[in-house]
Amino acid sequence: MHSESPDSTAQHDDRSDAAAPAWWRGTADGDGANETADAGPELLTDGGTAEGADETTLDPWGSATVSDYRKLFDQFGIESFDEILDSVPHPHYLMRRGVIFGHRDYDAVADAMRNDEPFAALSGFMPTGEPHIGHKLVFDEIVWHQEQGGDAYGLIADLEAHSAREIPWDEIDQHATDYVLSLLALGFDPEEGTLYRQSENRAVQDLAFELGAEANFSELQAIYDFDGGTDVSHMQSVVTQMADIMYPQLVDGPKPTVIPVGPDQDPHVRLARDLAARVRYFGVTEAYASFEADPAERELLDRAWEAREAYAEEPDRPRCVEAAEWLDAADEAGDLDAAALAFQGGDGQSSGEHDVLQSIVEKLENAGKEPLRPRVRILDRNATEDAFDALIEAVEGEKRVYDEHVDAFDLSRADAEDVSREVELDHGGYGFQLPSSIYHRFMTGLTGGKMSSSIPASHISLLDDPEEGYDKVKSATTGGRQSAEEQRELGGEADECPVYELYAYLLAGDDDDLATEVYEECVGGERLCGGCKEQAAELMEEFLEEHQEKRAEWEEKLDELDIELDSPRKRA
Ligand code: TRP
Ligand code: SF4
Repeated sequence: MHSESPDSTAQHDDRSDAAAPAWWRGTADGDGANETADAGPELLTDGGTAEGADETTLDPWGSATVSDYRKLFDQFGIESFDEILDSVPHPHYLMRRGVIFGHRDYDAVADAMRNDEPFAALSGFMPTGEPHIGHKLVFDEIVWHQEQGGDAYGLIADLEAHSAREIPWDEIDQHATDYVLSLLALGFDPEEGTLYRQSENRAVQDLAFELGAEANFSELQAIYDFDGGTDVSHMQSVVTQMADIMYPQLVDGPKPTVIPVGPDQDPHVRLARDLAARVRYFGVTEAYASFEADPAERELLDRAWEAREAYAEEPDRPRCVEAAEWLDAADEAGDLDAAALAFQGGDGQSSGEHDVLQSIVEKLENAGKEPLRPRVRILDRNATEDAFDALIEAVEGEKRVYDEHVDAFDLSRADAEDVSREVELDHGGYGFQLPSSIYHRFMTGLTGGKMSSSIPASHISLLDDPEEGYDKVKSATTGGRQSAEEQRELGGEADECPVYELYAYLLAGDDDDLATEVYEECVGGERLCGGCKEQAAELMEEFLEEHQEKRAEWEEKLDELDIELDSPRKRA
């Protein structure tokens, strides 16, 4: 395995590049595993969920199965976290180790962190049982973003637990208290941050109502597999979650907001991003001429614009007809690369190649001698008349006004976004930015298989007696070999070992050296499972002891908190 890095001043990067387990890096992006030259044969990049199931389903209330995290990139459009890791100041160890493997639009949050601009983090917990070490990942993520200067929100999804899981209110109250205590014990600062339960937050309910007006049953059916038998309250819990996600921006204005969750929640994130855009007054796009073009058509317009020197009589004013002729000819000659032709529309639907070409050529022909000219277009989506007038007024420089859009010639896209958001806010709109998300891997159960709250031995509850935690770790499945000799010879399979995962996800904390040491000693055959588990079990016991002490301290101060933990609801 890796020899000791001679460069022990590896401070330039918070990752320990020299000696990380394969799946800490090249996580899940394509053939990332191969990037580690000396990683040995076939190190899994998906952190130990290789159970042979090859199905990937993201179901917020069912069993979310992820057989291969890479699929989430291609199939669902989640982006690889690895690619933006370097842009995050002092990344959390869960980020450094690839436990946080994916994101949507996290760049916006990272930018805000780097530039000392406002941002927020919010996540929610269904109070269906005891908080366990899987929830701890999310608690830690919220706390970390708070420490980085973000506005932090932790919410109890009691309406969802009651409607989607049929948990009675008295149980909900008990679990809600337990979640809140663990979040506080892990460092959440309630003076700076916000805790609430869905049922008690009137502003969230009102926003849910408004957002619900933008989504209909067919859409929920398609996203969540709802059918005629789905409770109305369950549907209400969906729009409530949409409002949760927007809440930080409702409270004090638009800002990048990250939602740390497991990938099972991605359907919610996608819907929230859609709804955030649908309630906006204006939409900003780029265009080349007075007509409308969809994203696929715009891709071809880009090509035509780039090639203008080749065909235009006056290259700074290429005519639409000229561009049409060029596109036709280029297509004929096979010069339009597949990327341009097979461009995926925003709906994830691949547009038929030929239709796109034909329709844009037609539009260009109809536009005749109108010159192509890049511009930023601000579309009127939901604006009031006053707001649209104010927008026209606010656009600086050369502009052209149409019925439902304004074209601006001297404005960058970013400026156009700013101007239109300001006008929207001035006129009573929300001005939401699209929420961002980060996704963590699911932990493997201690008994192999999935970590499941219905199998107590498979997980460790944050309320488990410390000794019980110790015992559970001691009896966990490992990636060890049949015999000690074999282990010394071949090394253990840390990548498939739930105990190694415990180190990486929790027990090693911020100490990358410890996590790396365990990994290297394991795969190098120097570490045997008995001792490894003993060490892990002791660390777990210590962690639980300390955690529970802190919980007890907070328990004393619970009534100082601004969250209602006894629900006044009827026991229906
Ligand atoms: N649906 C989430 C769960 O199943 C809980 C939740 C409610 C949530 N509102 C949220 C998560 C907002 C993230 C953001 O646990
Ligand atoms: Fe897992 Fe430790 Fe055994 Fe390696 S030595 S397989 S990390 S328990």
